[in-house]
Amino acid sequence: MSFRVRKAVFPVAGQGTRFLPATKTVPKEMLPVVDRPLIQYAVDEAIEAGCDTLVFVTNRYKHAVADYFDKAYELEQALEKSGKTEMLALIRDVLPKHVRAVFVTQSEPLGLGHAVLCARPVIGDEPFAVLLPDDLIWNRHGKGALRQMTELAAENDAGVIAVQDVPREKTGSYGIVATDSFDGRAGRIRAMVEKPSPEQAPSTLAVVGRYLLPGRIFEFLDKLPPGKGGEIQLTDAIAALLDSSPILAYRFQGTRFDCGSRIGLVEATIRFALDHEDLNQAARMAMESALSELGVRDS
Ligand code: UTP
Repeated sequence: MSFRVRKAVFPVAGQGTRFLPATKTVPKEMLPVVDRPLIQYAVDEAIEAGCDTLVFVTNRYKHAVADYFDKAYELEQALEKSGKTEMLALIRDVLPKHVRAVFVTQSEPLGLGHAVLCARPVIGDEPFAVLLPDDLIWNRHGKGALRQMTELAAENDAGVIAVQDVPREKTGSYGIVATDSFDGRAGRIRAMVEKPSPEQAPSTLAVVGRYLLPGRIFEFLDKLPPGKGGEIQLTDAIAALLDSSPILAYRFQGTRFDCGSRIGLVEATIRFALDHEDLNQAARMAMESALSELGVRDS
């Protein structure tokens, strides 16, 4: 088994109920952080890590994701005509030329594990990446999280799952791992539990939305009965794989924003706006004035 990863799967067929009513028509992955949709941040991270085949698992309500990565002829012509070359580059750079996008359909929302299984015909038996675009990971001065993970996978010839520390009272919201010999950065995963109660959690290392998995995972996903919440859980298939394939938990460098929740999207927007070269001053002033206005009103 050699862990060179070229293909990345983006499961984007969830219902996004936490953002209703916006997600009645706009897919969660198309919600913007400043001026780019969430999916673009994840796609850039995968390309930086060396992926050239991007597999989007969508459903029939998510045409906007496919449209976004398609060529926008009329818009390109109009921008070209009016000499708006910077904007033209922005929409052309959504996907570099050497990268291909493949769309597969998940016809029913049967869970993350099932969504990943839908990508099997494109992945075959190669190792591959899974990125959940609503986990936005920002590493301002260094390599993206997935790039860090592909390097670790190649060095160790093993799968890798991104983890971060969470407060014990929050373990019920995450997949939690137990590891052998965790050296502060990485360690082999011994067990994985989906959403354990704080008393039952084997650690406080929580799985976040970046995975490098061997193609063998599909054999396990294919046989899995529905797990927690009646869904086919990716965590259950990984747990079944652990005895026969080494998978490392990796505490990545960077900040993760949980943009599947409203507060996470707000936090990411504030952080990116404060870091944006055109917006930082105005964003800071807007925040200061909002805070002082609220301070006056609340006192
Ligand atoms: P979430 O648990 O965040 O669910 O899915 P959701 O439907 O997207 O959002 P809420 O909780 O209703 O607000 C985690 C990831 O798995 C994908 C989602 O698109 C998201 O990227 N997913 C989930 C699927 O692709 N298919 C599914 O059946 C379930």
